[in-house]
Amino acid sequence: MTVSSATALRVPPPSSGTPVLELVGVGKTYSSATKSVDVLRDVSLSVARGQTVAILGPSGCGKSTLLRILAGLIPPTSGEVRVHGDVIRETPLDMAMLPQDYSQALLPWRSVTDNVLVPYDATRRRRTRPKSSRAELREEACRFLARVGLADFADARPVELSGGMRQRVLIARALMTRASLLLMDEPFSALDAVTRLASQDLVREVLRNADSPMSGLLVTHDVDEAIYMSDRVVLLSTRPARPVLDVFVDLPPERDQITTRADARFLALRAELLDAIRKG
Ligand SMILES: Nc1ncnc2c1ncn2[C@@H]1O[C@H](COP(=O)(O)OP(=O)(O)OP(=O)(O)O)[C@@H](O)[C@H]1O
Ligand SMILES: [Mg+2]
Repeated sequence: MTVSSATALRVPPPSSGTPVLELVGVGKTYSSATKSVDVLRDVSLSVARGQTVAILGPSGCGKSTLLRILAGLIPPTSGEVRVHGDVIRETPLDMAMLPQDYSQALLPWRSVTDNVLVPYDATRRRRTRPKSSRAELREEACRFLARVGLADFADARPVELSGGMRQRVLIARALMTRASLLLMDEPFSALDAVTRLASQDLVREVLRNADSPMSGLLVTHDVDEAIYMSDRVVLLSTRPARPVLDVFVDLPPERDQITTRADARFLALRAELLDAIRKG
């Protein structure tokens, strides 16, 4: 793990092997004819195989920009991003993303099931499942929809769903890709409190019980969610963002919404993070 020198660092020694994700000195400036905005400055961090990292930071500091760069959707202005050791040039197949703006992410003319299958429209992803027929993929999509509580809406159109239900369709879509890296941009923000906790547990379960280790990068504004979901929490500064705190979540991997959140270590981490956020 590498972070800039000003970062308060309290993480275990780096694990061996190539990190799933590595940012090296990443900077981003949005430029137009009239102005330029420095959004990220010299961001370096890496995510180990099987690790889930939560990213906290003030609104507008550059979290979504960071995820878009990691997904290969926009280029960094400086530095580079490596996935499994290779510099990314396009969206890696081995990566799935839960976007912040879920309202734009579903195709209104397709059924919920066919929306879950959108990634398989791309020939290069379809090649990852050469033996599966469309009918088999549809069956699997229905299983993932059932896991997010949408079994009865498989044939519905997105317009028939609430915001939270649409967000759950995207969760089903991302989980079905079985990518080894899941990028999540406030994926539970539209969910009611109970569904939010259930969805956190669902994503955690999928990340932990995948056939091969899956890593996650979760952007959230919710400090408790950041701790509960992750192995590490990175706090970003105001814009231009850089990591200012990077802490290891030393809680057992088996977590429970009630007992984990009452654990003394959970409460200590929460106090530390809230204090750092308050100090800015
Ligand atoms: N395409 C763009 N062109 C110009 N400026 C942009 C663009 N996208 C984002 N910005 C600016 O970059 C900054 C960071 O935006 P970003 O969406 O990454 O923030 P964020 O940390 O995700 O915020 P939030 O927590 O509110 O989602 C903001 O000042 C925003 O106005
Ligand atoms: Mg954002």
